[in-house]
Amino acid sequence: MSVAKVKIPEDCVVVVFGANGDLARRMVLPAFFHLFREGWLPQSWRLIGNSRSELSDDDFRDFTRGALKEFARGFDENEFGPFAEHLSYVSHEFEPGDTSPLEDAIRRAEKEIGTKRRLFYLAVPPPAFPLITKGLGDAKLQENATVIYEKPFGTGIDEFHKLNEAVHEVLDEKQVYRIDHFLGKEAVQNILVFRFANGMFEPIWNRNHVDHVQIDVPETIGIGTRAGFYEQTGALRDMIVTHLFQVLSFVAMEPPVSFSPKHLLGEKAKVFESMEPLDPQDVVRGQYEGYLQEEGVAANSDTDTFIAARVYLDNWRWEGVPFYLRTGKCLAEDRWAVSLGFRAPPQKMFAETPGEDYERNYLTFQVDPSEHITVSFLTKVPGPQIEAGAAAMEFRAEERFHSELIGAYERLIHDALCGDRTLFTRGDGIGATWEAVDEILKHPRPVCPYPKGSWGPKESDALIAPDRWRLSS
Ligand code: BG6
Repeated sequence: MSVAKVKIPEDCVVVVFGANGDLARRMVLPAFFHLFREGWLPQSWRLIGNSRSELSDDDFRDFTRGALKEFARGFDENEFGPFAEHLSYVSHEFEPGDTSPLEDAIRRAEKEIGTKRRLFYLAVPPPAFPLITKGLGDAKLQENATVIYEKPFGTGIDEFHKLNEAVHEVLDEKQVYRIDHFLGKEAVQNILVFRFANGMFEPIWNRNHVDHVQIDVPETIGIGTRAGFYEQTGALRDMIVTHLFQVLSFVAMEPPVSFSPKHLLGEKAKVFESMEPLDPQDVVRGQYEGYLQEEGVAANSDTDTFIAARVYLDNWRWEGVPFYLRTGKCLAEDRWAVSLGFRAPPQKMFAETPGEDYERNYLTFQVDPSEHITVSFLTKVPGPQIEAGAAAMEFRAEERFHSELIGAYERLIHDALCGDRTLFTRGDGIGATWEAVDEILKHPRPVCPYPKGSWGPKESDALIAPDRWRLSS
């Protein structure tokens, strides 16, 4: 984001629900702090923390200080005081007919800074979404409000419809910001810029030239202390439906008329509508060895900690092109990438360097841990003979731009404060993704065990054969 162009949002009162939870601690509060430090928050703003825990304002400020020490970039104690002046805390759980403590605090803060703009951030487990939304409606706090919902938005198609209806009873879709922090990542947004700002790549971005696509998000971490969440969710809901499908839509969408929420979200929704229901034969479910011994996990749990899937889009551009998706916990590396594998030339005219095992050209977007774009190809090996050897051209964002990347959460929170929904998700699109996985959620195949630190069950290699996962090959 070029500093000169950063928009400063209008004055606003922010309420963070689940303010002393893990997500607030690791992501949301540090994101507000980073925005504050950059001067990208409104001129006047307040942040009211809320949860069921009884905390004083000072307790909440101490909690926030601890969170920033641990998770904010380059935290300096001297910066905390000015930030903390904006923070307060109200312990209150919405119950039918009782909205007063939080409502009072919001109205008081609004009066102090002279605004009626509100941003509610629901950093709470999804089962709490309907109750909080209803509470906002009962207190008429939904007026002039933007509401950010964490993910997953629903746990299946039926639950999605129920939740979406409950939300729409109170809010207009334009007020609903379903967050997916993957869309806040620079390298993911760069997929769109790379595609639509250049003339070179878009003409080959289709089934005539692309053999397959890989979206690969391995993680080394396990479930940590999140068994309660993870047992209900698993990798399919937590990562595939929530994040990887969103990334897929950036790779697969048609060029939007403009980079506006209406056009971008419309094109994404068309991708999801064209997604063929996933066939159970095209999905490998895995569970890392030792998962059943994790605290809070049921002794006979069938929860997936790994998914590899082959997905097809039934549309003109992508008919017959497999999109391979893979993600899992306790895998060998933390390095995630999107790769387009191109069709090989029809004839092998040149001898290839022995032992290199080169299959095809790849265009790879590495998203984490740092942003790279790599094109791999064959080139002549110097010497009297004509021999083709593997080579690559690479772009590294940090070398070209020398600027610290803006974190995904701060980018998206700033967008929400400015009323920009472009990088959030729309209800119809999310509904279509739940439709696509309905069958595999209702009739899951058994999980295959895999050792910690590996690349998942061997069945996932068979799924992509004769090609191979780029990251693990
Ligand atoms: C979260 C998932 O949304 O994303 C986690 O709930 C996952 O299970 C995390 O580890 C990955 O995000 P990031 O930004 O660390 O790649």
